[in-house]
This record gives sequence, structure tokens and C-alpha cells, in this order.
Amino acid sequence: MDIKEQNTNIYPVTEENIAKAAELLRHGKTIAFPTETVYGLGANALDPIAAAQIFRIKARPEFNPLIVHISDISWLEKYTTPESSLVYELARNFWPGPLTLVVKKQQIIPDIVTAGNSTVAIRMPAHPVALKLISYAGIPVAAPSANKFTRLSPTTANHVFRQLGLEPCMILDGGRTKYGVESTIVKIVDDKLILLREGGITAEDIRLKCGVEVSKPEKGTRIEAPGGLDVHYSPACKMVFADNYDNKKSNIPSAKTGALFFKKPEKQGIFAYEKILSPKGDLLEAAANLFMMLHEFEQENVSLIICERVPDVGIGKAINDRLSRAAQK
Ligand code: TXA
Ligand code: MG
Repeated sequence: MDIKEQNTNIYPVTEENIAKAAELLRHGKTIAFPTETVYGLGANALDPIAAAQIFRIKARPEFNPLIVHISDISWLEKYTTPESSLVYELARNFWPGPLTLVVKKQQIIPDIVTAGNSTVAIRMPAHPVALKLISYAGIPVAAPSANKFTRLSPTTANHVFRQLGLEPCMILDGGRTKYGVESTIVKIVDDKLILLREGGITAEDIRLKCGVEVSKPEKGTRIEAPGGLDVHYSPACKMVFADNYDNKKSNIPSAKTGALFFKKPEKQGIFAYEKILSPKGDLLEAAANLFMMLHEFEQENVSLIICERVPDVGIGKAINDRLSRAAQK
């Protein structure tokens, strides 16, 4: 049965529903909403009890800090104390958009939101519903992706409902998200930029716009963005890369094997379930389809997903990152 026919917390995006969701946020409730990357599970970022609900609903360990969403660049000064002018330069160039900045926090941001860190991850999303919701609420909104911890990120309202059920007071249905992968996370230390998570905005985009290099964290350093945990973004079944798939050992793929191709393959019809991220080989389209297709495999109950790597350029880096973590079991 279509869940929309059931008693549901999914609401269409209307002026009235956005206002209602904003009101709920102001009253310490959690609601799910669309952003340009994935759906977020939001709560008042200034209220530790509201934020605690997010950890409970997601079954997320409290050492994993949340991203704070704002609707106006000027809010940066209310909640953070940037130590480098680069913070403003990045915000001016890429906000609203899928870039999260890790910056020194102000005291008003509770410890639960930052998991005790002296820094806070902050971004201004490029989605009209998210921006309206935050500005109506008049408060910064802490929002991780609206999925259970380590599971697939949601790119539709139904994905949120399938994992979180009626837990969020409302799920605002803004249709499919545009990017389909989470925001890029960059930490600013002095005048250096450190890439904590690959996403829709690439190190190359930042270099071209701001003339600064973005470096990767040194190997072996403490995991700064637990989104960087090895196992993450995982479908319910096992997933392997095609180049790690032992054809001889596994013989003929079973009736429950799924294949995830980047573009239209030479041969089709070998696997029981076949999906193509982008028939014409477009990386943006592939990113937008990634979690969508993994959710579909889950619903089809496949027992194994064999996937291809995509070209490691642009947003392709973020896709490969999510694929490798999903294939880490
Ligand atoms: O696109 C996105 O960023 C989505 C939408 C909803 O905005 N949100 C999202 O949130 O992906 P989440 O919680 O799934 O991922 C947040 C990541 C985590 O890996 C977390 O560890 C990292 O941000 N993070 C948060 N605060 C941090 C901090 N102070 N220092 C380092 N990493 C931080
Ligand atoms: Mg997440």
C-alpha cells in the first residue's frame, strides 16, 4: 500500500505546512525536511533537549556531532567565531549550497550539538523549503541526514518514512533532492582548509573560486567527521565492487543479485536486478540517483549488490566515497 494512504506524517510543501513545521521546531520538536543534498532530521540547535531527540531517533552515538543549518550568512557571526577570513570568503562564494564549514563555535551552541568539540559544523542549504523553514523558525536548525545511523541517506520523503516512521512530527515532502549526496565538509584551521568529507562542491571548485588548496587529513589522525567512519551509508545487504567480485567462486549470479552500473553497459540482462546510475554517463545525474537506487535494491530484497566505480573526478569522488563505505562490510 502506498504510505500516503496510511496515517502518515508526510506533508506536502505548502506555505501553511512550512509555517507549522517552523512552529514545531520552535517548540523543541523534530521534523524532517528536504535540502538540496539529502533530507535532514531537524531540531532547534540551541536547545540541548531538542537536539538529544535527534540522537535517539537516529540511534546515533553522541560522539558524532551535528551540522547546524542557517538561513542567512549574517547568522555566522551569531553562532561562530571565525578565526580566518577564509570562512567568510567560502560562505560568500558557496552559500547557499552544499558546503559545510567547521568553525570555532560560540558558547550559545550546546555541547551535545558539537559532541563536545570547540568547533561547530555549519551550512546554509540551497533549498527554498529549508531556507524558508529556518527563517520562519528564526533559530538555527541542527540536522543530520534523516536516516538511521550507518544506513542509507534519504533522498525522498518516503525514504525518511521507511527508516524513521512516525518519529519525526512532520516530514515535509519536497520531492527528490537535487544532489543526492551529502554536503562537502571543510575544516578551517588558521588559513588552511582540510577536507573532512567529499560532496557536491569539490576541492577544485574551492581552489578555482578562492585560490586556496584543500588538503586531506593526514592518515592515521583521529576521525574528525564520523561520516568518515569506514562503514556508513550502507544498504541492508552485502555490497561489493565489480573488481572484487569473484565470478568463479560465486558462479552464476543468484536470482537475488543486483548490479549497479555507472553508465549503459555493453551487455545487459546478466543480473536479476540491474540499475544504471546515468545511462549517458553524467556524474551529476549519477549522484542524484545513487541513494535512490540503493533504496530500491533494499526494497527489492536483493541479497548482494555488485557495483562499479565511477570516474574519480568532480562529484564522482563523493560517489566513490559513498560506494566504498557502503561496500565495507
Ligand atoms: O548534506 C548534508 O550535510 C546533510 C543535510 C541534511 O544538510 N547533513 C548531513 O549530516 O550529512 P550528517 O550528520 O549525516 O553528517 C554530518 C557530518 C558527520 O560526519 C559529522 O561527524 C560531521 O558532519 N561533523 C559535524 N560537526 C563536526 C565538527 N565540529 N567537526 C568535524 N566534523 C563534524
Ligand atoms: Mg549522515
